[in-house]
Amino acid sequence: MSNLGPEGPEDLVGLAGSWAVPVGGDALFTWDYDRRSERLLSLYTKGKQRQWDADKRLDWSHEVDPGDPLGMPDELIWIADSELWDRLPEKERSVVRTHTAGWMYSQFLHGEQGALVCAAQVVRMVPDIDAKFYASTQVMDEARHVEAYDRYLREKIGVRYGITESLRGLLDTIVRDGRWDFTYLGMQVLIEGLALASFSIQRDLMTDPLAKAFNAYVLEDEARHVAFGQLALRQYYQDLTDAERREREEFAVEACHVLSERFAGQELWHNLDYGAEECIALTRQSAALRVFRYRLFSRIVPALKSINLFGPRMQQGLETLRLMRFSKMDPDETSAADEAKALEIEQEELRRRSRQVEEAIAAGRGEPA
Ligand SMILES: [Fe+2]
Ligand SMILES: [Fe+2]
Repeated sequence: MSNLGPEGPEDLVGLAGSWAVPVGGDALFTWDYDRRSERLLSLYTKGKQRQWDADKRLDWSHEVDPGDPLGMPDELIWIADSELWDRLPEKERSVVRTHTAGWMYSQFLHGEQGALVCAAQVVRMVPDIDAKFYASTQVMDEARHVEAYDRYLREKIGVRYGITESLRGLLDTIVRDGRWDFTYLGMQVLIEGLALASFSIQRDLMTDPLAKAFNAYVLEDEARHVAFGQLALRQYYQDLTDAERREREEFAVEACHVLSERFAGQELWHNLDYGAEECIALTRQSAALRVFRYRLFSRIVPALKSINLFGPRMQQGLETLRLMRFSKMDPDETSAADEAKALEIEQEELRRRSRQVEEAIAAGRGEPA
């Protein structure tokens, strides 16, 4: 175990080489340039106009606490409700906080790379020109996200982990399948849902201002990506045969099961020395994981309903996972709230920076701030 933090050389756990996944499906050209979907085109316009540059939009000069780089409240630490945590000296608690941040942000980074690859696949496979337009803005969004999470890990956390098995398995299935709607369903609905849940927790519950602002801005982009997936699938899934519907519903239910049960920081707990099995068991029962599940399925379940993938078999599958209670939530309301929150945080951030400038000027004049 080691914890060098942002001051020392970066600590890399389980990161080596590359990963090749064979891909299926055709590259589709269309000669029909008549643009048909107004809603898709307006999403494309938003996608073009709302690109942002993390180098400029975020205040990278902000110094995080090296022993708690996200400002993580104790109730969000997976093992905090235990005798093990009570026994740990403060120095070891800092190790847990830093490595938890490193594990989580590494999964965000790898997930963002998965989104980058999938968005590029969508450009290749999707039949309509307006969908190709929109997906190309998403390629750029995801590249900016990869760049920014990488920088955050490198400069602010200093600990980095390889991709967790469950995320790797999901990405493998989605990338390998050659049908465009599977890429949409897997990436735009399920993994983007995972991103929305994770980033909204960072935005709302962490106390470090840089972590909050960063995730709010990313979340605003992700809300567009989810809207794109829903728009494209809603129509297509109305007319599925029973066999086609069965295949997609089974995949979605299985993915919900994986998302619900298999994200327990396994690599993190195997790397640290506190007894991996006990820590994984504590994580699975933790309040933090319940918060995550609530946010995750309050995004995913209404999205499945809105794309017409909500037949009796799907409902039965969700009932078995005890997730049907989320089906009454409104996905449009949630995504409008994400946009409003990003704007609010940006304005607060601008006010904070202008206060800093005024204070610096006053200090230069020898006046009290
Ligand atoms: Fe992203
Ligand atoms: Fe995305």
